[in-house]
Amino acid sequence: MARLDAGRKGVEPCTIVIFGASGDLTARKLIPALFRLFCQRQLPERFRVVGFARREKSDESWRTEMRAGVEEHGRLEGGDAARWDEFAVNLSYHRGDLTDSAAYTGLAQRLDGFEDSALRENLVFYLAISPSLFESAVDRLHEAGLLRRQEEGAPGWQRVVVEKPFGTDLASARELNAHLIRHARERQIFRIDHYLGKETVQNIMMFRFSNALFEQLWHRETIEHVQITVSEDIGVGSRGGYFEEAGTLRDMVQNHLLQILSLVAMEPPVSLEAEAIRNEKVKVLQSIRELTSEDVARQVVRGQYFAGTVNGESRQGYRQVERVDSESNVETYVAAKLFIDNWRWSGVPFYLRTGKNLPLRASEVRVQFRPVPNVLFARQADLQPNALTLRLQPDEGIFLRFNGKVPGNSMEIRPVRMHFGYDAEFGAYTPEAYERLLLEAVAGDATLFIRRDEVETAWEIVDGIRAGWSDTPLSNREFYAAGTWGPMAAEDLLAQSGHKWHDPQPAS
Ligand code: BG6
Repeated sequence: MARLDAGRKGVEPCTIVIFGASGDLTARKLIPALFRLFCQRQLPERFRVVGFARREKSDESWRTEMRAGVEEHGRLEGGDAARWDEFAVNLSYHRGDLTDSAAYTGLAQRLDGFEDSALRENLVFYLAISPSLFESAVDRLHEAGLLRRQEEGAPGWQRVVVEKPFGTDLASARELNAHLIRHARERQIFRIDHYLGKETVQNIMMFRFSNALFEQLWHRETIEHVQITVSEDIGVGSRGGYFEEAGTLRDMVQNHLLQILSLVAMEPPVSLEAEAIRNEKVKVLQSIRELTSEDVARQVVRGQYFAGTVNGESRQGYRQVERVDSESNVETYVAAKLFIDNWRWSGVPFYLRTGKNLPLRASEVRVQFRPVPNVLFARQADLQPNALTLRLQPDEGIFLRFNGKVPGNSMEIRPVRMHFGYDAEFGAYTPEAYERLLLEAVAGDATLFIRRDEVETAWEIVDGIRAGWSDTPLSNREFYAAGTWGPMAAEDLLAQSGHKWHDPQPAS
């Protein structure tokens, strides 16, 4: 079996310090992922995990909470549960305020107590905290002597993993970058977009560049347009306050959708090194045609859900959610038509859409090929062009739609589908995104993390759209009932070019 990570650096003994240790992400994702890696023997032979948070807790009580998190959210296999104690001896809890220097001095002392020099010197700092505290945390780490801009060849290493949101616009992202860079080199900074940890998102590149069949056709001559859909069947839940500040454009498009787009559209990298891959991804973002306010009005649609029913369950409207303004114009849905002005993609629309409270949870990329010439069968009214769908989640797989003759004495043609399913091919277990991301951070491979210029370019695109919206209120065609596929304005967007959205189908 050819392995792309054949060159992966070995993992060295290290300590992972999780800031925000009593938060939801730690119990739901980080510790279950670390435990799973431990059970699969992918963590270094010697490691420690230190949870840092403000609440008063003992090592023992934190471990008990984390065990409950693993039982509730982890994906355990036979025999895993029995290994908890063996894993948990490596966990400890450090109580401290994120803004208090003494807490970091205390952390340094705790690390000093580790018997093994690698556990003292090789450090991953995972910032699973409010973004308003990122800067303060790295400043304090630096003051305590735990984080420094590392020279090539110096003993030990320190890495900072930064959760999203990375800034709220270009200016704040630049400021945060400038701040981080004071205490760490770019190669020590690992900006998370958890979509890059998803198997199916990683597979986009493998699929394109390891098969002769599709890459030959992957350009404007044969592809008519591309649709990227990330639909969610949940509303904003208890995150009304956050969402009022963020909105879907910043919460989903700036990161996840633009990342998928850059993987679908990138040129082949010169190697599989992190920098080579990220160079190509950032070029795609830089080639996205800038949108004037008039373009935004024509090419970008906002939406907001009102009350409706999703999967038989009634949902309140966004404006009725706790901590949401009753006249809010914040978007819970975005659809956009973008153009990539480069040789390969000139003139090919890339349609992106994402929203909350849509009929089902599904993410997919649909590559719509051009129709065959209008001779022979193309005259049949319902002859459909080929389409390739990369189903990213759930029911992960790839579908190819082509036309076939219906058996019988007539010349009837109808579309048929060829299907590859992950479950059927590889078994049911697809690793959680955070398992892969944590492993890469420990190994020091930044391929699946966002580089400084990438995050800034993505903000530039998003800021342009926001400027176009300015303070205009949502129009009637931009509201949608929860449980529908979004506002009418999104249908109009594709209709302009004679296209139609293809809605993801429920998992089979
Ligand atoms: C997060 C967003 O980044 O991604 C959430 O903040 C969203 O609003 C989530 O629900 C979706 O992730 P996934 O992995 O469930 O598709």
